[in-house]
Amino acid sequence: MDKDKVRVPDLSRMKAEGRPIAMLTAYDYPFARIFDQAGIDVLLVGDSLGMVVQGADSTLPVTIDDILYHTRMVARARRRALLVADMPFLSFQVSIEEAIRNAGRLIKEGGAEAVKLEGGIAIAETVRRLADLDIPVMGHIGLTPQSVHRMGGHRVQGRRAGRTAGGRERLIDDARALEAAGAFAVVLEGMPSDLAAEITGRLKIPTVGIGAGPDCDGQVLVMHDLLGLSEGFIPRFAKRYTNLWQAASEAAGEYLREVRTHAFPDAEHSYGRKSA
Ligand code: KIV
Repeated sequence: MDKDKVRVPDLSRMKAEGRPIAMLTAYDYPFARIFDQAGIDVLLVGDSLGMVVQGADSTLPVTIDDILYHTRMVARARRRALLVADMPFLSFQVSIEEAIRNAGRLIKEGGAEAVKLEGGIAIAETVRRLADLDIPVMGHIGLTPQSVHRMGGHRVQGRRAGRTAGGRERLIDDARALEAAGAFAVVLEGMPSDLAAEITGRLKIPTVGIGAGPDCDGQVLVMHDLLGLSEGFIPRFAKRYTNLWQAASEAAGEYLREVRTHAFPDAEHSYGRKSA
């Protein structure tokens, strides 16, 4: 076993030692290989795949079999990173038994080492049961895309005070409930930086932010945002580190031109009668 392998307890150690956690989504072998080799600590097979891979306008249609399919590909590529698989909408809300079965499939059939669930107080009992069964759980609160209809869109949460869903105090309660239930980390998505800082300061478990400012214990981005592979609206927090969309368009355009002009394939890319 690789001594550098990132395991569930390492994330708490990283928080304690002030070492930021770097997490990225991945959905297939080549990108998972690239990110793992680059030293990314956590690979998440996110249900964001519904939007960035499948082209849907929300994450709601994603099924447990979709997540399983992609988790297997990422698991084959991963050597060092901790592999977390997302539990999609309706895979954990109906009953604790279903949640256990589906989370278990992601571990047993997919090769994930942990699962991620959206929600706070409302799913704390489910998180407790999973954690009790040694299925490590990463929580996810704030702008939770599976709550798109309640939120009225993908909107920043925690801007208003209160203990109803999406209120500032409620998000603090949600985070504490997840920690008390045994979650080993929690994603804070789409919330004001000062609220994420407050939650991070109150929890012993690490927080991983996305659109939650600089004071979380780690950061996560959707790989399509990082690489400039997204089309349409790009949220403010989604920093592009390169523009693969443009690079791929240029490559396809150049290929098209060369095929049309008979420039491709040339002799270098063709076989002779006898190979040398
Ligand atoms: O589905 C996903 O990619 C996620 C991340 C944005 C945290 O949940």
